[in-house]
Amino acid sequence: MDNRLCETIERIIAQYDLLANESRFTENKIYGKELYAISDEGLSNHSSAIKSNGTYVITGGLGGLGYIFSTYIAKKYQSRLILLGRSELSKESEMKITELRGYGSQVTYYACDVCDFNKVDQVVRNIGEITGIIHCAGIINQTSIMSDNMTEIEAVIAPKLYGTMNLDIATKDHDLDFIVLFSSISAIVGDYGCVSYASANKFMDEFSNLREELRKRHKRNGKQSVLTGHYGIMVVCSYQMAIFL
Ligand SMILES: NC(=O)c1ccc[n+]([C@@H]2O[C@H](COP(=O)([O-])OP(=O)(O)OC[C@H]3O[C@@H](n4cnc5c(N)ncnc54)[C@H](OP(=O)(O)O)[C@@H]3O)[C@@H](O)[C@H]2O)c1
Repeated sequence: MDNRLCETIERIIAQYDLLANESRFTENKIYGKELYAISDEGLSNHSSAIKSNGTYVITGGLGGLGYIFSTYIAKKYQSRLILLGRSELSKESEMKITELRGYGSQVTYYACDVCDFNKVDQVVRNIGEITGIIHCAGIINQTSIMSDNMTEIEAVIAPKLYGTMNLDIATKDHDLDFIVLFSSISAIVGDYGCVSYASANKFMDEFSNLREELRKRHKRNGKQSVLTGHYGIMVVCSYQMAIFL
């Protein structure tokens, strides 16, 4: 791991003064994680966290999953959508935005790399008050741990690690209803040697735990949720769910 990453991880631990453990042993009991399925019925018993007059930031909002969520919110809630991606707008993405606006939502796109704090901060200041964040920006890359290509490894880790922290810090004083981080099942079961992707997603899972602790201490607002997916199947694993359906 290069020095920059090591320093960042040390900074995170120091800054948040917390470390969430996979399992722990207290008072003669072992506590661990448990996965369980949520039934359709369970989902339908929850009310939606999305509001019609809300402002929602969706990073990677023109990508595969991001666009599915953007479309869903645009169609059902006619909210204000702020979409982020690194690329400048292409003809194809302009058409996607036109389609979203056609559902009655106000849509703005910013070419903004979520790994760059100054850019994220600038966008957040431009937007004003934010109701919710859906962090879908990510790069799915199968770089093996045997590869010594640090550029590829960092490219996978950066949007999930720096991106998550930048969004969190830039919006720490906002009255957010929720922040949803798009993780992956690889955070739980590993990724057959693709350690960078699995670790980046694991970071998001643990970050959610840390942020929840900060929320309890009134240092952050809003629920946090991690969506863990595999080949299009998304699973919610969180302290408190932000339900969209
Ligand atoms: N698809 C699945 O089945 C699946 C399963 C498990 C987990 N996930 C997770 O879900 C997330 C979205 O997946 P996807 O399938 O929708 O991926 P995708 O289609 O490749 O979309 C990713 C989006 O993120 C944007 N992006 C990447 N790096 C960025 C950065 N540094 N700053 C701002 N935007 C950035 C890309 O736009 P630009 O290129 O313009 O930046 C793109 O629009 C990922 O985090 C992935 O790990 C997906």
